[in-house]
Amino acid sequence: MFERLTPTDPDAILALMQAFQADPRPGKVDLGIGVWRDAEGRTPVFSAVKRAEKRIWKRQETKTYVSFRGDAAFHEAVSNLLLGPATDGQWRAASATTGGTSAVQTALTLARAAHPDLRVWIPAETWPNHWVLARSLGLETRSFAYIDPDTQEIDRAGLLRDLDRAQAGDVVLLHACCHNPTGADPDAELQAAIVASLARTGAVPVIDCAYLGFGATPEEDCAFLRRLSTLPEVLIAFSGSKSFGLYRERVGLCLALADGPQARDVVENHLTRINRVTYSFPPDHGARTVTEILGDQTLRAEWQDELGSIRDAITTQRARLAEALRTRLNTDRFDRLTRQKGMFAMLPLGEARVAELRNAHGIYIVGAGRINMAGVTEETCATVADALAAVLR
Ligand code: LMR
Repeated sequence: MFERLTPTDPDAILALMQAFQADPRPGKVDLGIGVWRDAEGRTPVFSAVKRAEKRIWKRQETKTYVSFRGDAAFHEAVSNLLLGPATDGQWRAASATTGGTSAVQTALTLARAAHPDLRVWIPAETWPNHWVLARSLGLETRSFAYIDPDTQEIDRAGLLRDLDRAQAGDVVLLHACCHNPTGADPDAELQAAIVASLARTGAVPVIDCAYLGFGATPEEDCAFLRRLSTLPEVLIAFSGSKSFGLYRERVGLCLALADGPQARDVVENHLTRINRVTYSFPPDHGARTVTEILGDQTLRAEWQDELGSIRDAITTQRARLAEALRTRLNTDRFDRLTRQKGMFAMLPLGEARVAELRNAHGIYIVGAGRINMAGVTEETCATVADALAAVLR
């Protein structure tokens, strides 16, 4: 039977990570996979996580199953983090998932159950796995304009023109904050225009929230999410990988806002079934750790501080690289790096230059030019900027 199989397309991000690990050159620089690393190249466990785990370890007397949708306290803690406490008339249905990827997959599976013929509108620039996930569910995909290639800022007119083509039953994939790969987030005016477009067409947003707290405080990074949550139906895919540094624990939540109590009940019923037929019970340890942190004032403050330090480091790194490129290339066109948000930025490189950077300089960059700012440290910045300037000149 297996002779009938043909290999799938390699995952660009994972392939790059493996190539980096296999590269023996000492001066190599990893600007690839979206994992935070400190100046020493480590991805430390948050101290709030360590302390929460210790408390759980002391208290926990069983590892028996929780429920197909995971722990209700986790649903509530993350939903409240994202949206604030539920208001009257807001009908939330949630399900713990195995990380953010499966939260997106769950959201799309739920939407497909409601509308098997739906189209998934995906930003032209996005996390490549969005396309793979939608297609692997057999869904029709459409792209909508996101970045203006000349300015590397959001193509506002193109984006709104394309979104207006969506229709009731379709879903529109959006990034809550810290757009991956560009770092270009809609401002308040554009956010409002996107919400108005969705209200007009009846298409439902699926909001991928994987970098909460990397652009601004978690509260501020929720602004777009909260605007979108004024729509009657919304799907949110939350990941705890980056925001809590719990990458390998696979912390995720699929949160649906339904437009009434009956709709909420049936959504819960489907979320239960989706988990049951994929992994039965979602992982618990990471979710429990997040619940512990969010439910305790001291741990929560500690977590916010740690996240704040990561954010400050990224802000410094963005400014450092912008300055280094300004000096070397005598242009201000990279100043946008200081205005854009989160771990990633897109540089106007293209695949040939990306290959040259890797082959000649040992610098690893995703796709046609996504860089992870975490790799641009005080130590590597000059090397990176010299190499970028060499290929961009
Ligand atoms: C990334 O975009 O690099 C991360 O979200 C990691 C991944 O799973 O691709």
